[in-house]
Amino acid sequence: MTELLLAAAGGLAREVMAAVRDGSRYDILGLVDDDPARTGTVLDGAHILGRLEDVREYPSVHLVVCAGSGTVRADIVRRLGVLGVAQNRYATIIHPSVTVPEGCSVGEGSILLANVVMTAAVQIGNHVVAMPQVTFTHEDVVEDFATFAAGATLGGSVTIGRAAYVGMNCSIRQNVRIGAQAVVGMGAAVVADVPDGQTWVGVPARQIPPPPRQGPASDETAAPAGEGER
Ligand SMILES: CC(C)(COP(=O)(O)OP(=O)(O)OC[C@H]1O[C@@H](n2cnc3c(N)ncnc32)[C@H](O)[C@@H]1OP(=O)(O)O)[C@@H](O)C(=O)NCCC(=O)NCCS
Repeated sequence: MTELLLAAAGGLAREVMAAVRDGSRYDILGLVDDDPARTGTVLDGAHILGRLEDVREYPSVHLVVCAGSGTVRADIVRRLGVLGVAQNRYATIIHPSVTVPEGCSVGEGSILLANVVMTAAVQIGNHVVAMPQVTFTHEDVVEDFATFAAGATLGGSVTIGRAAYVGMNCSIRQNVRIGAQAVVGMGAAVVADVPDGQTWVGVPARQIPPPPRQGPASDETAAPAGEGER
């Protein structure tokens, strides 16, 4: 069995550990997290071995980044790259209930939880997270770091931009593009393209205004590993 180290000890890490323990080729070595107070503690039977920088002590283990927000995952992957972690060290976590049909692909570092469905010719990039019961249909394309909350459903030929967030139980009409870092609220029905960075909610989905501008100290990309759950 290959050893697996999880980065960011939050709710998604707990779900990934449950998926791995349900049957996969990985053995959980432990977790790393930016919060130094958590070093030496235990999460669901797995030890928090140190901070993100401590991955250098485990040069041959596989990793998966478990921050709930795609922009936070992207920042952690960038930091891990500086620490020498190559893309081919990332594990792809696929719950045993999920089938990846011939002609579909799932990138390195991506996480597919229980009962995710891919019908045909679905392309999922790197470090994508799909929570339980997400449905991808023919020719969907998902760019790196996108996140899908439970029950999201995509029609055919939908494109999801880099680090977009698709909320629980929303539906996305066929041929629609969700822009990079856009957010679709839970329960939305998206019937038109969502531009980069916008937040859309409702049935049919419409934009909600962005929150007031915030200073760099609260920029999500600067959030420590483990934060950023939406
Ligand atoms: C869309 C979302 C990101 C907005 O969050 P936010 O920026 O904090 O916005 P607020 O909660 O301040 O809401 C802003 C307005 O949008 C409305 N709104 C928020 N989410 C909504 C939704 N999903 N559907 C319809 N309206 C929504 C609010 O009622 C509020 O309306 P008001 O200004 O008339 O009072 C969030 O509500 C959401 O749906 N997140 C996804 C949750 C999810 O899927 N979680 C899964 C975790 S695993």
